[in-house]
Amino acid sequence: MHKGFRTMTLVCLSAPLFLAAQSSNVTLPQDKGSDKINVSAYPPDQQKGYKVFLDKCAKCHTIARPINTTMTLPEWSRYVKRMMHKPNSGISDSQGKTIYEFLAYDEENRKDKNPSAFSKSLSDEEIEKLKAQQH
Ligand code: HEC
Repeated sequence: MHKGFRTMTLVCLSAPLFLAAQSSNVTLPQDKGSDKINVSAYPPDQQKGYKVFLDKCAKCHTIARPINTTMTLPEWSRYVKRMMHKPNSGISDSQGKTIYEFLAYDEENRKDKNPSAFSKSLSDEEIEKLKAQQH
């Protein structure tokens, strides 16, 4: 009885740790930028896509991160898949597609018009370096 209770407590205590392990534990330059996009002039489908994006892409890091990152469309396609495949991402295939379409529209109609206002995505090596500096 007593032992069972201890096991339960351990399970409950380690659950948040397990969830935290999925999160990005580094601050990237993009995290410090704006955390919203004015989509009032975007087509209705992309306005809906924006909501899915806000809902799904802020789980493990700031929403500012993708908002302030510029990439080519093939890179976005790869990136959304990479994020979807992270453990516990909670992003379905169809949500991933909706989010990709939103990001592609936003890239072409907002970021590509003013690329110097946004950060290029960092390589894994650059991210590892920042992690080492911040810890
Ligand atoms: C399950 C957790 C998780 C979710 C959900 C998630 N990400 Fe990420 N993301 C990460 C982690 C962790 C990193 C840091 C780099 C790495 O370890 O892959 C990251 C990094 C990034 C970067 C920085 C890339 C760079 O190299 O500078 C972008 C952009 C990004 N994510 C976009 C997104 C988008 C768009 C979504 C929604 C489709 C999303 N993320 C959802 C965990 C997540």
